[in-house]
Amino acid sequence: MALRPILRFPNAHLRLTAVPVTQFDANLTILVNDMYETMYAGLGIGLAATQIDVQLQVITMDLSESHDQPLTLINASIVDQHGSQICEEGCLSLPGIYADVPRAKEIRVLTFNEHGNAREFDADGLLAVCIQHELDHLHGKVFIDYLSALKRDRLLLKMTKHLKTVL
Ligand code: NI
Repeated sequence: MALRPILRFPNAHLRLTAVPVTQFDANLTILVNDMYETMYAGLGIGLAATQIDVQLQVITMDLSESHDQPLTLINASIVDQHGSQICEEGCLSLPGIYADVPRAKEIRVLTFNEHGNAREFDADGLLAVCIQHELDHLHGKVFIDYLSALKRDRLLLKMTKHLKTVL
């Protein structure tokens, strides 16, 4: 496994759209393993392949504190959704800043696993938020896109200051 560099906002490649995976092969396994290593190292709960400059519809997630409940989503899509919720979100591509974002409360997800097997499942709460956040990445969207320009500028200034203190 290998750590991959995470693209940081406003890198233009974060705006690229991912294409579906067509080859469920050893290269996909390597990508998925690298994404877990990179996500866990960054203390993130979700990572989209576009964040490491790979334009494929691959998402890794793990909401557990013990890092033992991996959830890999390949070519995932939301086929049904209900309700709304607002949750504070952060992102490995926007370190040090957090904001409330409106999302669907309950979603039904159609996805493939890394072996190419399809399945559908329902998600709500933080899991639903995380899936929607990562699917946005695959469509070139980041969570601050949902905010007003004023709020966004304020947060980006905060991110700049945060990066100065940690680098
Ligand atoms: Ni993110």
